[in-house]
Amino acid sequence: TSPLRLYATVSDAYSQTLELADIDWDSIGFGLQPTDYMYVMKCPLDGSFSKGELQRFGNIELNPSSGILNYGQGLFEGLKAYRKEDGNILLFRPEENALRMKIGAERMCMPAPTVEQFLEAVKATVLANKRWVPPPGKGSLYIRPLLMGTGPVLGLAPAPEYTFLIYVSPVGNYFKEGLAPINLVVENELHRATPGGTGSVKTIGNYAAVLKAQAAAKAKGYSDVLYLDCVHKRYLEEVSSCNIFVIKGNVISTPAIKGTILPGITRKSIIDVARSQGFQVEERLVSVDELLDADEVFCTGTAVVVSPVGSITYLGKRISYGDGGTGVVSQQLYNILTKIQMGLLEDDKNWTVE
Ligand code: COI
Repeated sequence: TSPLRLYATVSDAYSQTLELADIDWDSIGFGLQPTDYMYVMKCPLDGSFSKGELQRFGNIELNPSSGILNYGQGLFEGLKAYRKEDGNILLFRPEENALRMKIGAERMCMPAPTVEQFLEAVKATVLANKRWVPPPGKGSLYIRPLLMGTGPVLGLAPAPEYTFLIYVSPVGNYFKEGLAPINLVVENELHRATPGGTGSVKTIGNYAAVLKAQAAAKAKGYSDVLYLDCVHKRYLEEVSSCNIFVIKGNVISTPAIKGTILPGITRKSIIDVARSQGFQVEERLVSVDELLDADEVFCTGTAVVVSPVGSITYLGKRISYGDGGTGVVSQQLYNILTKIQMGLLEDDKNWTVE
């Protein structure tokens, strides 16, 4: 059964009875709200993916010797769906996630779904869970595709079987600060990525590696951690879950994608939006010293969208931006990006998919 045909059967029952899930849409944060269906598709190591299906959302069974559990052979993606006033649902640049997963899969010795399979699976999963897409202005449906080595393996080697799975959850703001500026601390000892490592792909281990520094920062009251390069301990890399931008005058600078930086889709979109607004955008090495006289700093990511930074603490010295208020430029870029994502502004770049 094709996923879309399966969806038709599954969703008819739902759409006739339930338009929206019965939850408090005004108080959703960024936590897992179990939904109705997940998408599952399997593939042998040297084969290709075929025959995906929607299943009831729930626990999955894994061999204790699976590649993902033993050797971290796994990737994830993140994208969002927004409900428009007319009831239609918009995805934001989903093919970019499909392409990024293919590149990551190559690095992690895994087969990946084709771009078409990825898109069809995302659409089927969103439609099957459409009562969980928040009403306009109340958030979005976060879509989490996973690619995992699920076959058993004992000696170190690629797993013999892979699973592509998508689950979804309605989400609101990522940081507990909501849309208010976040407070970062520069980490001087622990690093997120190394040259030649896996920092530029969305492998699960990159995120486990930052938990310790993140927990220490949160215990001291910071929102999150800003990492430096591990060679010079001098150039900005990224925050645990998002990319970073520094503004000085009309110039917006962000660390260049050079193997240790995650090529964020929001990052790429904000670079385009900023250029079309007349800003000069530079992708280059950005020194930690540049934080000292920046006008504004902000973070970008699918989960965090565009988050203004109110302060950064480096070697015990706190640098504040815009009196702790939301930066004018980051607010301008946030407004344009989110209006495109929600279908409220003309999408002349064809970024959204209905
Ligand atoms: C996203 O922004 O979608 C991410 O993948 C970050 C994640 C740690 C929430």
